[in-house]
Amino acid sequence: MKRILVTGSAGFIGFHLAKLLLEQGFEVIGYDGMTDYYDVNIKRERHRILAQYPRFQSQQSMLEDYQALTQLCRQQRPQIIIHLAAQAGVRYSLENPRAYTDSNLVGTFNVLECARELNVEHLLMASTSSVYGANTEMPFNERQPCDTPLTYYAATKKANEAMGHSYAHIYDLPVTMFRFFTVYGPYGRPDLALFKFVHAALNGDAIDVYNHGDMARDFTYVDDLVFGIRQLMDAIPAAKDQRHTTTPLPNDSLSPAAPYRVVNIGNSDKIKLMDFISEIERKLGMTIRKNMLPMQLGDVPATWADAGLLQSLTDFRPNTPIAKGISEFVDWYRNYYGV
Ligand SMILES: NC(=O)c1ccc[n+]([C@@H]2O[C@H](COP(=O)([O-])OP(=O)(O)OC[C@H]3O[C@@H](n4cnc5c(N)ncnc54)[C@H](O)[C@@H]3O)[C@@H](O)[C@H]2O)c1
Repeated sequence: MKRILVTGSAGFIGFHLAKLLLEQGFEVIGYDGMTDYYDVNIKRERHRILAQYPRFQSQQSMLEDYQALTQLCRQQRPQIIIHLAAQAGVRYSLENPRAYTDSNLVGTFNVLECARELNVEHLLMASTSSVYGANTEMPFNERQPCDTPLTYYAATKKANEAMGHSYAHIYDLPVTMFRFFTVYGPYGRPDLALFKFVHAALNGDAIDVYNHGDMARDFTYVDDLVFGIRQLMDAIPAAKDQRHTTTPLPNDSLSPAAPYRVVNIGNSDKIKLMDFISEIERKLGMTIRKNMLPMQLGDVPATWADAGLLQSLTDFRPNTPIAKGISEFVDWYRNYYGV
């Protein structure tokens, strides 16, 4: 079975992905700096669960520590790298842009260097729906130009896409970039809406609702998301000189110049924020107090994924209904925090 390096393995998505890969018999090497952007205990707990699988090993180091990263790569020689570690969060990038420069630009450059040196079969890296920025044509598809990032977070992820493309071209390195759309589910991030809303509701606090509730998101359940990643591992972008053997997909984002493509992983369903909150209230059996606030700087009113390319490549489309996903999250939250 193949050996996969997963960066950000103690993170929300990295944890779920590593678990799925381990359950399927892969060897997983986790790499995570356990940053204190949010509660480190939940990151430790995720790694503790992964450590119960004999084929899991991990290293706690930062991506910026090139020595540590290359040493691990040279020892373990993973065939595939899935790069999820990043300074995430749209709003925090207004406060601390340097963290994004260090983790997302320098860190991703170091991962690219390792992938090049190892000549991996496939490098897969996380981008975000935030790169669609000020685009208004919906649903968002991968062939749309997106040159209007509204936050520095989005700008670093857009830069990662460009960096990935250049390495794919120069070194013939197959690279897939995922654009994720608002991922949610058990062991989720404490800085994201669902966690914050449930936490506040159970403490009797009010929640902050931006743009007076006039927002919509394409919420993607984490099990769907990591299954999509798993399927895309096998959809290796073809090198330019090998393309004559396959029929091109009409909706492909494959680069004309490199073995490189961008793929949305989203639910292709736009959920209104107020409907999302109502579903949480229904599950909790209570009404949540709300502070209705104006739009925040850098926020976008809506996201909505065209998941047609994902489906063409993998025969899979995320399909967990929001009520089920919220229910799973709330059950996990109550059990984990004993409330
Ligand atoms: N969760 C979402 O809704 C969402 C949406 C779009 C894109 N993404 C992207 O998906 C990826 C995973 O996101 P997540 O939600 O799991 O976030 P997360 O914050 O839970 O996980 C990221 C992990 O990376 C680690 N990390 C951060 N900087 C590091 C560094 N410099 N060196 C080593 N480790 C470092 C952190 O400790 C953390 O465990 C990120 O690249 C994020 O930008 C997430």
